[in-house]
Amino acid sequence: VDIVHTISDFAAIRQDWAKNGWRVGFVPTMGALHQGHLSLVDQIKPNVDRVVTSIFVNPKQFGPNEDFGKYPRTFAEDKAMLEEKKVDLVFMPSAEEFYPPDFSSSITNLKYSTVLCGAFRPGHFDGVLTVVMKLFNVVKPDVAIFGKKDFQQLQLIKAMVRDFFMDIRILEGPIVRESSGLAMSSRNRYLTEAQKEEASALYKSLTEIKKRVAKSVRRKSELLAAASEVISEQRSLSVEYLELRKPTLEPFGDEIQLPAVALVAAKLGSVRLIDCLEIHE
Ligand code: PAF
Repeated sequence: VDIVHTISDFAAIRQDWAKNGWRVGFVPTMGALHQGHLSLVDQIKPNVDRVVTSIFVNPKQFGPNEDFGKYPRTFAEDKAMLEEKKVDLVFMPSAEEFYPPDFSSSITNLKYSTVLCGAFRPGHFDGVLTVVMKLFNVVKPDVAIFGKKDFQQLQLIKAMVRDFFMDIRILEGPIVRESSGLAMSSRNRYLTEAQKEEASALYKSLTEIKKRVAKSVRRKSELLAAASEVISEQRSLSVEYLELRKPTLEPFGDEIQLPAVALVAAKLGSVRLIDCLEIHE
């Protein structure tokens, strides 16, 4: 797999691909790859002629007290996995080129940047949208894919593409889970096996909501209380939010309607974990 570090080197290759009329698929990542990322590569491949993965631990989406410094950087393993998946190109820009001293713009979502994860991570989604816009402008993909675990991120990226008339088709990757139900995440590397087992209570709490919805419960407070009880059995988990929303992220009143999405964020020690589950009719 070819590794490209600069925007100009990438642009030269991208121009050749355009001359050949090749459609380009894009899988943006921050590295520390796992099966969830690899499933995104598998899903995008049949739709395009060339696949680009980016690896860039974006400083702008981490808060001052978050894990930017210790975020797992596992380039040798990442490269081997992408080679095995026959990704065509890995783009690894430098922070110096992406954020030069005169860098002064930002993309924001006016409706949903400050709710759910945004309430606990001020500025996070501005950082995400800004880097995704920059990556899109360099990579110029026809199709890009994002995982549904970061459900809010996915909705905000779809909104950005729609609002700015960006000619990019966005695919959505299903969540890949461990056998315990724990959603795969780069941050799971921070957890011991015992902690991973405890963390799987997040998924179990979401499935508890789904079970009750299947039994025709629609009262939001009742559904959330049941889920909350499942999580509270694991005293190591400290919930940041547990919510039910429309798939557009719009809140419900006292009663939910379907389709809905249950979303949770919790901390296990200093490790922040998120999960979600879509609930259909
Ligand atoms: O989901 C991620 O890994 C990151 O938020 C993304 C989309 C690559 C932007 O840095």
